[in-house]
Order: sequence, then C-alpha cells, then structure tokens
Amino acid sequence: MDHTSPFLMTRRDTLLAGAVTASGVVPSAAAAAPAKQSTATAPLTRVTMSVNGESKTLELDTRTTLLDTLREHLHLTGTKKGCDHGQCGACTVLVNGRRINSCLTLAVMHEGSRVTTIEGLGTPQRMHPMQTAFVKHDGYQCGYCTPGQICSAVAVIDEIKQGIPSHVSEDLTARPLLSPAEMRERMSGNICRCGAYSNIVDAMTEVAGSQA
Ligand code: FES
Ligand code: FES
Repeated sequence: MDHTSPFLMTRRDTLLAGAVTASGVVPSAAAAAPAKQSTATAPLTRVTMSVNGESKTLELDTRTTLLDTLREHLHLTGTKKGCDHGQCGACTVLVNGRRINSCLTLAVMHEGSRVTTIEGLGTPQRMHPMQTAFVKHDGYQCGYCTPGQICSAVAVIDEIKQGIPSHVSEDLTARPLLSPAEMRERMSGNICRCGAYSNIVDAMTEVAGSQA
C-alpha cells in the first residue's frame, strides 16, 4: 500500500471529517488555530492593611478578592473557600469588627482596614471564648465551615449587644434578646453541611451568657 498517497485518509482524518459533517460547520482558519495566550499585564496596586494585628503591604492584581489575598498571598488558610459566591459563609472574616464574606470583596477596597481571621481570634494555647465553647459543645464535625461560623458567631453576639435588630426581632425599637431565635436568624448565612446548628447555638448561648 502507498502510504504517501494524497487520497489515503487516516483514522484521525475520518473522525475529524465526521465531526465536522455532523455539526454542519466548516471550521475557519482562525477557529482552527490554537488560542493565543493573553500577554496583557494584570494591573497591580499596592494595598496596606492590618491582618491579625500585623501591618501587611501587598502588590495585588486589582481583581484579587480578600479571600484569595488571605489564603494565597498571606497563607492564612484557616479562612475557607466554600462556594466563592457569597452563599455559604465559609469565608467569613471580621473587617473593622464587622463580619464580611471575604469572597465577595476585593482586597483593594480594604486599604487601611483591620482584618481578623480565625488565626487572629485565638491560638490553640489561648483560644477565644467562642472557640472554647465550640469545642465544649461539639459545634462542628468535619470543621470546614467552622472558622467562618466562629467569626460570624463572635460578630453576632456583638450585633445583638449593640441593639441591632434582625428579621425576627419583635420590637425594632427595643434591644434584641440574646435568644436562640435571634442567633439562628443571624447565623443563617453560615451553612453547615454536617448540620451542627443546634450545637453551634448552644456554644453561642454559653458565650452570650458569660458576657451578659
Ligand atoms: Fe464566600 Fe461561600 S466562600 S460565601
Ligand atoms: Fe462540617 Fe460544618 S462542620 S460543614
């Protein structure tokens, strides 16, 4: 057999021709060419913020989220990436004392901010009271949601004490109660696939009671 014949089709040629026929599209030269990689340089911006009490200055692509800044640039992997879409609460950190989904905010928006992650709340030797209460009440199973739950829980107790009402507050002009209903409502943005919810509320109730 003459393998140099221009009429000889290889198996690959046959499959390719079949695919083109089936789609009814003849590929143009441009479409057939391999995609060129973008050579554009990402715009970098300098950002300085306090993270767990230490000043950090970073040169970041302006599109970098606070979550990726913490995890990929500062290697603070305690803050978890769950959905990356603001739906699970796993990435919750405290910014200037208020909780925030770090996947939904850009680092460049936090010039001069005070960021606290789970690593900054406490250490294994000196745990934050909320961390201690989570351990005592088994407020976790796999632990993936736990850093976000704890940061959120700390902020929730503060919100209630500051008198900020929620959807379940009966009287918007009165100070809300440190009740399980208030805590459950305010923690509803923190999803736990292991279903540790009631134990989390027990842990929060203990901390709230000890601070009352
Ligand atoms: Fe941010 Fe899910 S990772 S809310
Ligand atoms: Fe496993 Fe919450 S402890 S997801």
